[in-house]
Amino acid sequence: MGDPRIVTVPDAAALAEAGADVVAATIAAAPAASVVVATGTTPMGLYEELAARRRSGLVDTDAITAIQLDEYLGLAPDDRRTLFGWMRRSFLHPLAIEGPRVLRLPLDGDLPAACAAFDRALEARGGIDLAILGLGTNGHLGFNEPPTERWAPTRAVTLTDATIRANARYWGKIADVPSRAVTIGLGPLLSARAILLVVSGAAKHAIVRAALEGPVGPEVPASFLRESGAEVTVVVDHAAWEGEEPT
Ligand code: GLP
Repeated sequence: MGDPRIVTVPDAAALAEAGADVVAATIAAAPAASVVVATGTTPMGLYEELAARRRSGLVDTDAITAIQLDEYLGLAPDDRRTLFGWMRRSFLHPLAIEGPRVLRLPLDGDLPAACAAFDRALEARGGIDLAILGLGTNGHLGFNEPPTERWAPTRAVTLTDATIRANARYWGKIADVPSRAVTIGLGPLLSARAILLVVSGAAKHAIVRAALEGPVGPEVPASFLRESGAEVTVVVDHAAWEGEEPT
């Protein structure tokens, strides 16, 4: 509660360590924690570090539940580019999380009804213990694109041009990036007991400063982290915090 705790670290390796410390502390305190799992480049080292700690017996992930943060719409379920596939390869598989301990977002049928049911199910199972999030260059969390109000529920969204451009690196070209997605809403995310935001690289400098030091409002969805009831930790590397690569 209160202001986010900002942990600045020199580089990606230190970010992975510091991030894994936060996740490990959550799991030590609540072995059956419900954890929202972002994909994206930034948390990958953190997930590798967690898997290494698990192999050494330092972290026990056997009882946690992993919750999907966001997903593109319109892909075949076996498409390698789904965010769920990425989550499976980077988090679920290395940490041996499967079956009922995985909570997936709805992707078809009556989406508004299914997303509302997802939020009710989240609440019924006690809410989110820890949300591991990355930061979009436009200030989004998950796919809560600007403008997003702080109470926004889980829902289908249309991606902004900025996000489509930023994510084209995973797809080859801009025209191949899906334009619609589903995301856990800012409302349920901000109701988590703890939030870990990981931010890396000089390209995130302006937005991380705007989120943590600029006006709080829908134009920078991540700025609402400063008004959430969660215990928020921001692990940010030198390049992102200072806007320059270390000398
Ligand atoms: C993507 C995803 C987010 C992710 C963010 C940052 O668009 N929707 O879940 O956290 O952008 O990604 P990265 O860590 O690759 O910069």
